[in-house]
Amino acid sequence: MLRHIPVLAEEIYEHLPENRQLWFDWTFGHWGHAEYFLSHEEKKRNISWIKIIGTDIDLNMIEKARELTKEYKDNINILHSSYANISEIAKEQWLFDYELLDLWVNLEHFKDWSRWFSIKTDAPLDMRFDQSKNDMTAEKWLKTTKPEIIKSAFEEYWDFSQKTAEYLTKLICEQRQKSPISTTFQLKDFLLNNHFNQKKIAVIFQVIRIMVNNELDQLKIFLEKFPTTLKKGWRCFIITYHSVEDRITKNALKALAESCDFMLINKKVIIPHYTEVQRNKAARSAKLRIIQKL
Ligand SMILES: C[S@@+](CC[C@H](N)C(=O)[O-])C[C@H]1O[C@@H](n2cnc3c(N)ncnc32)[C@H](O)[C@@H]1O
Repeated sequence: MLRHIPVLAEEIYEHLPENRQLWFDWTFGHWGHAEYFLSHEEKKRNISWIKIIGTDIDLNMIEKARELTKEYKDNINILHSSYANISEIAKEQWLFDYELLDLWVNLEHFKDWSRWFSIKTDAPLDMRFDQSKNDMTAEKWLKTTKPEIIKSAFEEYWDFSQKTAEYLTKLICEQRQKSPISTTFQLKDFLLNNHFNQKKIAVIFQVIRIMVNNELDQLKIFLEKFPTTLKKGWRCFIITYHSVEDRITKNALKALAESCDFMLINKKVIIPHYTEVQRNKAARSAKLRIIQKL
């Protein structure tokens, strides 16, 4: 089975408050981070009183995580939910000692062709994390979205120039009149034929994925709600992977720190050591921000 390699795990572990008891891992994935922390705790103390709650929006991920964590079922409870439901989940649990939000996708989304995120294999154009609730596939998004929303997505989320965003929107709208773009290779070929290079194509796929999964709105909800779910003296860790989500996170945490109820732990963003990037290419754009409730 393909396993996701946790990013910046050592740096997070070093900054965890002492005597943490209730942890929340909002993007549980393949339990990479949780496994790293629990195995390190296990070497130091009795872990029977540690409780980890994990959510993931992707049912495939949940199924694998439950299988992988069987041995720790007294410590770990995995829920199928979005981190945007943080207030509802927190209501049913205690306030948290520490929370982790590790954005972006799981390695499985890219490497397992049947998950339909990769441009490297031909598959239906889907890109949904949550196939059980979300019916907006990438194919449907390209087919039905209003031109002004397509244009602003490319402009805002990846800082394409206004001219490029307009050109791309025009191309997509013209193409959908002729025939729908239904597979990953159809989308890739369409973009190649219109002179977008591989790098730009990867970015376009990413913007579509962000829109299909409503990722930035989910992040904004999380950032607004998490402050009330943390215990006093405890911390929230957020790893971002691209400039737009990082900008949103940075501004939200900065505003919280100005309120005097919170303190930024790292004034300068933490990035992976080059040896980590050598071991795990997926870590190359990661940025870690940590905030503590006072
Ligand atoms: C980078 S991976 C997390 C990897 C995990 N930390 C590990 O080390 O195994 C991000 C995960 O977030 C999940 N995800 C994406 N959007 C989500 C959302 N709105 N709510 C909860 N999970 C989400 C994805 O399915 C994916 O498994």
